[in-house]
Amino acid sequence: MSTPTLTDLPPFRNEPIAELRRGGERERLAAGMGAVDAALPLRVPLWVGDERREGDELVSTDPGAPGRVVAVAPVATAADVDAAVRAAAAAYPRWCARPARERAEVLVRAAAWMRERRAELAALAVRECAKPWDQADGDVCEAIDFLEFYARGAVALERGKELFQVPGERNELHYAPRGVVGVISPWNFPLAIPMGMVAAGLATGNTVVLKPAEQAPACGLKVVEALREAGLPAGALALVPGFGEAGAALVRHPGVATIAFTGSGPVGLDILRAAAEVPAGGRQLKRVVAEMGGKNCVIVDSDADLDDAVPAIIASAYRYAGQKCSAAARVLAHEAIHDALLERLAGAVEVLQVGPADEFGTDVPAVIEQDARDRVERYRAAARETGRIAAERTEGLPAEGWFVPPTVAADLPPDSPVLREEIFGPLLTVERVRDVDHACDLVDELPFALTGGLFCRNPHTVDHVVRRSPVGNLYVNREITGAMVGRQPFGGNRLSGTGTKAGGPDYLLHFVEPKVVTENTVRHGLVI
Ligand SMILES: NC(=O)c1ccc[n+]([C@@H]2O[C@H](COP(=O)([O-])OP(=O)(O)OC[C@H]3O[C@@H](n4cnc5c(N)ncnc54)[C@H](O)[C@@H]3O)[C@@H](O)[C@H]2O)c1
Repeated sequence: MSTPTLTDLPPFRNEPIAELRRGGERERLAAGMGAVDAALPLRVPLWVGDERREGDELVSTDPGAPGRVVAVAPVATAADVDAAVRAAAAAYPRWCARPARERAEVLVRAAAWMRERRAELAALAVRECAKPWDQADGDVCEAIDFLEFYARGAVALERGKELFQVPGERNELHYAPRGVVGVISPWNFPLAIPMGMVAAGLATGNTVVLKPAEQAPACGLKVVEALREAGLPAGALALVPGFGEAGAALVRHPGVATIAFTGSGPVGLDILRAAAEVPAGGRQLKRVVAEMGGKNCVIVDSDADLDDAVPAIIASAYRYAGQKCSAAARVLAHEAIHDALLERLAGAVEVLQVGPADEFGTDVPAVIEQDARDRVERYRAAARETGRIAAERTEGLPAEGWFVPPTVAADLPPDSPVLREEIFGPLLTVERVRDVDHACDLVDELPFALTGGLFCRNPHTVDHVVRRSPVGNLYVNREITGAMVGRQPFGGNRLSGTGTKAGGPDYLLHFVEPKVVTENTVRHGLVI
């Protein structure tokens, strides 16, 4: 692999997404799947420094064909987590002493490693998390983007900030890493999200312990392999597979300075509470970067172009079976167009293709696991009981796998949990509103504030909704998913997160602390 130096690095640009309409691209991905399938089940180790321990207490399976075992892994105990944090702490002094440009070179080489294996990595996300091909390829691209973006960002951050200077005094502001970062990731972006958090920690000079989602240990392993193959010192990044208990042990470890978490609201709140306790022997306040769930609303005004709105809402609600944190959950439709919009959305849902993630035509794959299917089914039953199912695609559902019919529900009572709780599946609700302000009131009532959408043609309405909207990412006249690194820094407000923006110019600041040095430069004579 060639070793790029910082002077070679071109400005950041997003990794181009594969064009699946081209036969050659589909063949490339299918070959990647052949290679992945031939190697199943993968053995994911607990990997601390140069020590690898295998096990099979944790089993990840294909959500679309649960009989297919994708990976087996050991479950990290509290003692394993302790060993991983100690190893990361031991590696910290040397890694943080490296200039940012050297650390950046490791990240850029890891991006190259992933680029070379793009088809196999996408295929693994298809198998382990039932991501349809376009989504899986997008996941790999986003992981590459995070590496490239944070590599450049850390080099810029190392220059510090200009301060006001007066004669006889020199003031400098620099950013220093904080120590060991515990990264706890979800399964729905099984490569991009852990890679983003890990890369941010490493780029800024911290060392990292990664606890990947229990549903996606094999993708977690690829994150670690990419960086280690790129020359990262073994101690600088450990992999501790396991369930929530392993994450909880990492959060509570006195040696962890920063916790980067992406996942559900209840777990995020538990982490924030636990991190506020300074453990015996702790010498640092823990910092928590938490990206959590949402209940994302799309407002459709009376003048909206429904030809634009319908496909964009369908894609936002059902792509990857609604399992993106940014997915559309509620449509708030102006009463003048409500009936027409609902009819068209219902028609679109009835022709969605539900099927295995590895089929190129699939729109809606299986949800991640049986619990997820049962949860979405409970909300569907509640919607049927207290409101109305306007459309559901039940035809063609495979008999095996955790499939849920994509569904549109309407006429729900305002206090329905279906309208208020994060469902995280292919269930969209449609409500009638008097006007845009009524819609904004409903959005404002929610404790979540992750993404939102607006379809309208009046620029004054756009300005008004922008002012009233609490969400972290508002999309106007387009889909509300698919944030791109560097273009749409991503993250929620209120109970959707601590207000961080992954893939944005401020993200790395969460992984460092500022240090100011003030020197008296008036001559005092020479000390001999
Ligand atoms: N805001 C965002 O950017 C974003 C992005 C992706 C997913 N999400 C959210 O993530 C959720 C789906 O992911 P999930 O099901 O993997 O979430 P989850 O909260 O169940 O699990 C996330 C991670 O936390 C670990 N964990 C569980 N209990 C823990 C505990 N007590 N202490 C420490 N760690 C613990 C899990 O093992 C896993 O690795 C949804 O709510 C979705 O909205 C948010």
